[in-house]
Amino acid sequence: MPELPYFFLIMIKLLLRYILDIGLINKIKSYEEIKTKVVNCKLCKLCITRNNAVPGHGNLDAKILFVGEAPGKNEDKMGLPFVGFAGKILEEALEKAGIKRNDVYITNVVKCRPPNNRVPEKDEIDTCLQYLRKEIQIISPNIVCILGATALQSILNLKSLTIYHGKMIVSDKIKYFITYHPAATIYNSDLREIFFNEISCAVNMANK
Ligand code: URA
Ligand code: SF4
Repeated sequence: MPELPYFFLIMIKLLLRYILDIGLINKIKSYEEIKTKVVNCKLCKLCITRNNAVPGHGNLDAKILFVGEAPGKNEDKMGLPFVGFAGKILEEALEKAGIKRNDVYITNVVKCRPPNNRVPEKDEIDTCLQYLRKEIQIISPNIVCILGATALQSILNLKSLTIYHGKMIVSDKIKYFITYHPAATIYNSDLREIFFNEISCAVNMANK
């Protein structure tokens, strides 16, 4: 009876598909909840000057999650992260690493644009960080890639990007890979080269 094992194989496949689908449906639900909270958030003073809060965006099953500093002018206008020039550089780095923007999840330490793109202040970071922690929990990526000094200081309480760039640090069982912010590489081609290499390194680690 060759049909019987075949039948069980199909059933197991369907069951696995069902379990995976339930996992993704739960992720979508949790993501939509956090997105609604961010869009309506008034927990810090940045809500007064923003046009749009910018929740993280991307593939909820991503193996790698990128964290920048804060939305800029374009992001504030569109309500999406990394859609300006820094985003273009990040996309180029991803392409060189062999993945697409659609494969990854991208977010920021604070979700609202600070006036005139100033660095977010400690109280704003401390208040907003709960959303990033929740995003990391929902996506559950293999690697969280920290982009730049503000994200490094906010997430891991570490000061020197010079020391830590290109390195991985494990904290609370989460693997963080540290690199430069793409905007820091705009006028510095040497740094851009290092950035591209380190993004490839982070992507390879995430794919392992
Ligand atoms: N810089 C950031 O840190 N985040 C963005 O979303 C855009 C620029
Ligand atoms: Fe809320 Fe964060 Fe925006 Fe502040 S920056 S209002 S905490 S979403």
